[in-house]
Amino acid sequence: MADKKELVLVLDFGGQYKELIASNIRGQKVYTEIHPGHISAQKVKEMAPIGIVFTGGPKSVYREGSPLADPAIFQLGIPILGICYGMQMMCFSLGGKVRPAAKGGEYGKTKTALMQNCPLFIGMNETITSLMSHLDEVVEVPAGFHIAAKTKGCKIAAVCDENRKFYGVQFHPEVKHTEQGDKLLHNFLYEICHAKGDYDIGEYIEEASMFLREKVGDNQVLLALSGGVDSSVCAALIERALPGKLTAVFVDHGLMRKKEGDEIEGIFSQRNMKFIRVNAGERFLGLLAGVTDPEQKRKIIGGEFIRVFEEEALKLGAIPFLAQGTIYPDVIESGGSAAATIKSHHNVGGLPENIGFDGVVEPLRGLFKDEVRALGRQLGLPDFLVNRQPFPGPGLAVRILGEITEEKLEVLRNADAIVREEVDKLKNRPDQYFAVLPGIRTVGVVGDERAYDYVIGVRAVTTTDFMTAEYASIPHRILGKISARISNEVAGAGRVVYDISGKPPATVEWE
Ligand code: XMP
Repeated sequence: MADKKELVLVLDFGGQYKELIASNIRGQKVYTEIHPGHISAQKVKEMAPIGIVFTGGPKSVYREGSPLADPAIFQLGIPILGICYGMQMMCFSLGGKVRPAAKGGEYGKTKTALMQNCPLFIGMNETITSLMSHLDEVVEVPAGFHIAAKTKGCKIAAVCDENRKFYGVQFHPEVKHTEQGDKLLHNFLYEICHAKGDYDIGEYIEEASMFLREKVGDNQVLLALSGGVDSSVCAALIERALPGKLTAVFVDHGLMRKKEGDEIEGIFSQRNMKFIRVNAGERFLGLLAGVTDPEQKRKIIGGEFIRVFEEEALKLGAIPFLAQGTIYPDVIESGGSAAATIKSHHNVGGLPENIGFDGVVEPLRGLFKDEVRALGRQLGLPDFLVNRQPFPGPGLAVRILGEITEEKLEVLRNADAIVREEVDKLKNRPDQYFAVLPGIRTVGVVGDERAYDYVIGVRAVTTTDFMTAEYASIPHRILGKISARISNEVAGAGRVVYDISGKPPATVEWE
């Protein structure tokens, strides 16, 4: 799609939020791709972007080996927006000075005064709350730049060179914690880069279907279906493009929520595809016996998923094409980004290419999650499937801390079903809500007897991007009901606690 649409390049210097920048830009109807920060100016020139965004990153520009943009990029005459490290790196590269910030930098929501002397801030309030997260700061702007924003702790919170159309912000406009961040990015795209806004997800179904028909021809396609949004939309797209040619294999690893495996079977066994369910719970639990380390759990589950799927593929005989629900963030994350690994989000749908197929098709490879959901709706998938909350590929294995046993799984499944049932009744539901089993037991009384049962943690967050999140203010009445129901209805659960941590510093999941 890139060759015929206007393009904005996001150059990655190791920032955690690069995908948010890119999906925000696409949401504003401009096609964008993420490329490594060290891309050559020649390559950039060949792609002819209308604008470039430098992401943030964890390094200090004045340290040897820190990633810098090819200096020739500044000669291409293309507008640039540097965010956080991206702004520091641009200023440093063009002759400004960057130093460790006084008082150790700024972190969190910060009152930020925007000077109305910069087209980035057209139509924005004079003061906004922005998310700051920096240890270094620009202390001297390069020739041609002027200062465009400040905070109490940072005198140069934004810079602007209108002649060359170079802009920098120390804060993060791409996260929801920053007020009017969307407007700032809109201004960059439409006021500064003069975008037309020619990117439309609606055209995707036809383009992807044509591509699938050309690539697959009359052959059959095999898909690993997890029942999550990505593989479900992938299945619906292939079913539409290649009717009757798809076989979907659902590997039930026994770590799904209550009744979930049956629900997935119920939906997909009715559609115009061959659906196979493999019940492999015992096999996965056997391998996970005694394993307590979360990263090891993720690796075991991911690896075994591939083996089970391979075995099924062999039984089916030669099917030349493998389809995968890979989406753009998966591509970026497996591309060796410079961002620090917080946890390896193992997508059990992610299969290697060399498992005996002639070809692999990944029709969602260029799309962000919100685009995949929009596509799913257009393809007529039910809302509850398209709007599903994220559920980690390793399933309940990362919601039981420590060793996983059948007993703990049963307790957690029952408690989780109650949490979801009660929160579902709310008008304003949080974005993700579930139960966790921290694996500790506490003392209680049941009747006149001493009890020694598991603690259940209730987690509910509001977020738009899952990169940052706040704990949800669920009414105490509902929390009380959840607690009472879990204590009364779930054998083995004796105490209920509510997690009031935000992300950061906590993550959404407990492992
Ligand atoms: P964290 O816990 O990192 O989670 O704040 C952010 C979002 O990602 C989901 N998550 C995962 N998804 N495989 C997945 O497919 C995983 O291993 C995994 N770990 C976390 C989590 O549910 C939340 O929505």
